[in-house]
Amino acid sequence: MQNAGAIFLGSTPGPARAYLGGLLAALRRRYRRLVIPCCGKFAIAEVALNVGWSPERIDCSDVSLFSSVLGYLACGKPLSALQVSVTPPEQLEATLSPLSLDTPGQILYTLKLLTAHQHAKTYWAELIMRELQRHRDKHIEELQTQAQALAGKLSGLNYRAIDMWEHLEEVQADASAITYVNPPVYERGYTRLYDTGGALSWAEPSFQEFSPKTQNMGLRERLMQFAGLAILGRQHCIDEAESPLVIFASEYSLERTDYLLANKPQVVADLFSPGAKGFARMGVRPSSYPIFAEEDEVTADSEIRFIPCPSQVGLYYRDLWAHRLAATNADAHYMVLLDGKLFSVLGMQFRKFFGADAGPAVDYVFEQYGFSVPHARYHCTPTDWTCRCAGRSHGGCSCAALRICSTRTCRSPLSIRSLPAWGWLSATRFRFSLSGLSG
Ligand SMILES: C[S@@+](CC[C@H](N)C(=O)[O-])C[C@H]1O[C@@H](n2cnc3c(N)ncnc32)[C@H](O)[C@@H]1O
Repeated sequence: MQNAGAIFLGSTPGPARAYLGGLLAALRRRYRRLVIPCCGKFAIAEVALNVGWSPERIDCSDVSLFSSVLGYLACGKPLSALQVSVTPPEQLEATLSPLSLDTPGQILYTLKLLTAHQHAKTYWAELIMRELQRHRDKHIEELQTQAQALAGKLSGLNYRAIDMWEHLEEVQADASAITYVNPPVYERGYTRLYDTGGALSWAEPSFQEFSPKTQNMGLRERLMQFAGLAILGRQHCIDEAESPLVIFASEYSLERTDYLLANKPQVVADLFSPGAKGFARMGVRPSSYPIFAEEDEVTADSEIRFIPCPSQVGLYYRDLWAHRLAATNADAHYMVLLDGKLFSVLGMQFRKFFGADAGPAVDYVFEQYGFSVPHARYHCTPTDWTCRCAGRSHGGCSCAALRICSTRTCRSPLSIRSLPAWGWLSATRFRFSLSGLSG
């Protein structure tokens, strides 16, 4: 599902950003300029600035209105040059018509609302729409503050709204340039992320949307011909011929490893010693608790405990008990112990919840993943462990829900002393301890 309410997706992930920080610091005096087509949210420009590149040596470009608003602010171009105009759909007319679209906050809010409207096919997306409309001015103000803060950090860099291929053409012969390209990863990702249903128009550059399915290889071959150093971000996998070009790899799950490839890996090896073949392992590992076994029993006196664990431990069991899942991240990972034995793992994310009432969004805890040990008699579905925390802080855990049933299809419940045979059980009626949620 498209992430409703997301205004940008796809920044270079943290481990690769950290590696690039070291590399760009080491190469700062050797190369004259840093060129970043497909700059997105300017994550790599920020990294370069943090390690001492001066903004006037950084050239960024993108084709999206989101990047262009931030880029124009950062390089001091007037937003009026973007020529944003909107013909809102009827349902959004009252919210959007009063806006003059002359501030970054208003333009970004309009883009966010119109794209959320296009994705409002699920209940969750509808809640986001409702929240955005009810609290329009608050959201405009927040987006304005964030845009100005980022533009302040990036102030002085160069930005143009142009297609990545045009930008690559310009820099190809420049031996004094480092070019970093992290192209779109999902087919038609740009179209889906920025689809406003034709309600918004702006001075969009002409471009053909990058297709990772058909253009990854062509892009790599093109970068191989660059006179300067060219670095390419590649998510999920590489083909065999590319492995000598790998300068960094980062493992996300058994199924996904991301890579950075370079056209001149030897130059990187010579100038940046830790980087010859950087590899950031996730380091997934088991815990010391025994796993709940086939012969183990749940009794009326059984005790359930939630124990916080590092992501590497939670994700180890997630991958052990469920195969071929995309990488998941969570703000907190837990092991669920049944009488001291590992029965489930789950990951929680602390996010805003929009549907509570007419007031502004509140802090909430969402389950990101939840898997239990395969067992012939006892089975827990992922949502069964979901803990709902009310209140403003994550420490305000007021209730926890637990269901255990004795068949895989969850039809016949297991009776535990003093508990109803089936249904939501209150934490107070069960020896149940939920530790660490206040983090
Ligand atoms: C995965 S994001 C890259 C984010 C950023 N480079 C980073 O590493 O944090 C891909 C970006 O490519 C931009 N882009 C530029 N030229 C494009 C083209 N021809 N087709 C599709 N997307 C393009 C999209 O707007 C999007 O911001």
